[in-house]
Amino acid sequence: SRHLKDVLLQIHEQITQRWQSALANEAAGQIARDYLVQRGVTEEAIKLFRLGYAPDVWEDTVNWSRSKGFDPVVMEQSGLILRKEGSDHYYDRFRGRLIFPICDEQGRVIGFSGRVLSGDQKTAKYVNSPETPIFTKGKVFFGLDKSKRALLEAQSAIVCEGQLDLIACYMAGVQNMVAPQGTALTADHARILKRYAEEVVLCFDSDNAGQNAAVRSLDSLLASGLAIRVAVVPAPHDPDSFIKEYGGEAFKELVKKASGFFDYYLNRLCETNDVASDKGRLIILQEMAEAVYKTGNVVLIDTYAQKTAFRLGVPPEAVRAEFRKASRSKN
Ligand code: CTP
Ligand code: MN
Ligand code: MN
Ligand code: MN
Ligand code: MN
Repeated sequence: SRHLKDVLLQIHEQITQRWQSALANEAAGQIARDYLVQRGVTEEAIKLFRLGYAPDVWEDTVNWSRSKGFDPVVMEQSGLILRKEGSDHYYDRFRGRLIFPICDEQGRVIGFSGRVLSGDQKTAKYVNSPETPIFTKGKVFFGLDKSKRALLEAQSAIVCEGQLDLIACYMAGVQNMVAPQGTALTADHARILKRYAEEVVLCFDSDNAGQNAAVRSLDSLLASGLAIRVAVVPAPHDPDSFIKEYGGEAFKELVKKASGFFDYYLNRLCETNDVASDKGRLIILQEMAEAVYKTGNVVLIDTYAQKTAFRLGVPPEAVRAEFRKASRSKN
């Protein structure tokens, strides 16, 4: 209901302030302050993105919410605390983590992502808010509330994976950027971007997970009518580590030179399959045919049949025929 959502928004706003102050002022926040220095996140960025620190205890949020008079049942619905199975005992979801508030398009905090600060791999690197009445991961972009003006101006949206990628780019002056936070783009994501821009430039991590996420975003993006380009940071980088190593100008250059999606995809297929073997060649043909047929555009289909033929060293007519077969066997 409207009332529940309002209370959840209040809770999110107030715990944001509490965690911001823990980061800025509390002795326990030192570990997070040190971490941010080490990651090169400036004071300015900490303020703008309202970063915080959730203390490393089990019941900080629980006790805080009690002192504020928030109903434990509503607190549980906020995703900030969890109930121990079969008891009425609650504990904090976010413990000992650097906190990134996630905002809606109006800049209201609707969820959180928390990053571990210690090197040990005992817990997940990121813990996120669950789905709540005010937070649906597949419909939210980290950073959109701050980047929307830049998106409209550029009519182009750069999509990166994570919060730290976006913050590094933003501070380097690349502000037309959003982060789906580690997932492929959903149809809802694509529809949101279409309201701000006419093209997207995918700039995911250079690792397999990142490159696969780029490919998995194709369907949603095509359906939205957005033009799609792909910028690839060299291995082993992501946008954040790339900017730290090569600088913001080099990143801008990379985005400027981003290729169209299908050129990128053909390259990737030729890199990940053996172009010299029959098996590899069949996979490349099949995958290219499948992807390019999704556009329903005869000119594109023809263009990429030719390019694929060139890469495989066979006559374009043969590839065109195979493309047609591949599309028929799919439908
Ligand atoms: N992510 C997540 N849950 C995980 C891992 C990642 O939600 N267990 C999301 C986070 O939003 C994160 C993004 O996916 O920012 C990218 O993850 P990843 O590339 O693994 O982050 P790294 O670059 O390895 O981490 P960092 O830069 O924070 O060291
Ligand atoms: Mn990783
Ligand atoms: Mn990644
Ligand atoms: Mn990464
Ligand atoms: Mn990273």
